[in-house]
Amino acid sequence: MTGPFPATRLRRTRANAWSRALHRETVLTPADLIWPLFVTEGTGVEDPIASLPGVSRWSVDGIAQRAKEAAALGIPCLALFPNTQPNRRSEDGREALNPDNLMCRAIRTIKDACGDSIGVLTDVALDPYTSHGQDGLIDAAGYVLNDATVEVLIGQSLNQAAAGADVIAPSDMMDGRIGAIRDALEGAGHVNVQIMSYAAKYASAFYGPFRDAVGSSGLLKGDKKTYQMDPANAEEALREVELDLAEGADSVMVKPGLPYLDIVRRVKEAFEVPVFAYQVSGEYAMIEAAVAAGAGDRDALVLETLLAFKRAGCSGVLTYHAAHAARLLNG
Ligand code: PBG
Repeated sequence: MTGPFPATRLRRTRANAWSRALHRETVLTPADLIWPLFVTEGTGVEDPIASLPGVSRWSVDGIAQRAKEAAALGIPCLALFPNTQPNRRSEDGREALNPDNLMCRAIRTIKDACGDSIGVLTDVALDPYTSHGQDGLIDAAGYVLNDATVEVLIGQSLNQAAAGADVIAPSDMMDGRIGAIRDALEGAGHVNVQIMSYAAKYASAFYGPFRDAVGSSGLLKGDKKTYQMDPANAEEALREVELDLAEGADSVMVKPGLPYLDIVRRVKEAFEVPVFAYQVSGEYAMIEAAVAAGAGDRDALVLETLLAFKRAGCSGVLTYHAAHAARLLNG
């Protein structure tokens, strides 16, 4: 209940910093952040990504350094994405099943360097490994086959779990893959390996710089609209989340982030489960472009957008600004 003015003056509690701190409803800490990192071949390599200013691909040794840095900053989890060498990409993406692929070497190196002081989340989808850049196997017409792809994703998940992944994060949007992967993980004894499902993932225009980063943008013909969701749909997102939870997802993700905070809120209210959001590459690039154009202050934009995710109901956020934000939050 709010009484009439002047008995009620909402500016009263805003008048001083101490009072604003006391009345703050939402907090953001480094523990809310997941840091996505791009892995590349070689040793001692740092390869800047032009469309993501400030973000680089790192060779496995550099990834281990970033992992130590993240743990020291209080970031609880990393998300890994490989830039697979062109000669290891194929029509069927079989490199995803290689126990010595870039992803598996990065996982093992991080676990050797950091143990359980940081979690490793790994993306499950075939786009970094296919010669056509789609997330799954395609037929002669280029249609991404659901059930045949799920069989490969099971193998990819087991491969990542065997290398030491803590969280399997399927980003492919095939139907039925969460249950199939959960069964396989249980069968292989990986009972505590989590699944964070990219449950509501939209066919978005905000993924462009990511596709540059993993090297699939030049390969991809067409789009991903037969499996990723239509940005017009919200009820369908709730159905996607409901199915993935029923199949055994431990947490769910909404992606992209800021343009889809209504989906975050609806999922949180409908299911009361851990919800994460991915502030994707195009969102990062937009902030950096605004800063470069003198249209805003980086630190303030980063902290305000990340706080917005928390306010909308997120347990945490995947963001390329994670290390920078953690440094700001740690003072
Ligand atoms: C691949 C995948 C994508 C992203 C995460 N996993 C791209 C896509 O679906 O084309 C995008 C992340 C970003 O833009 O930062 N399955």
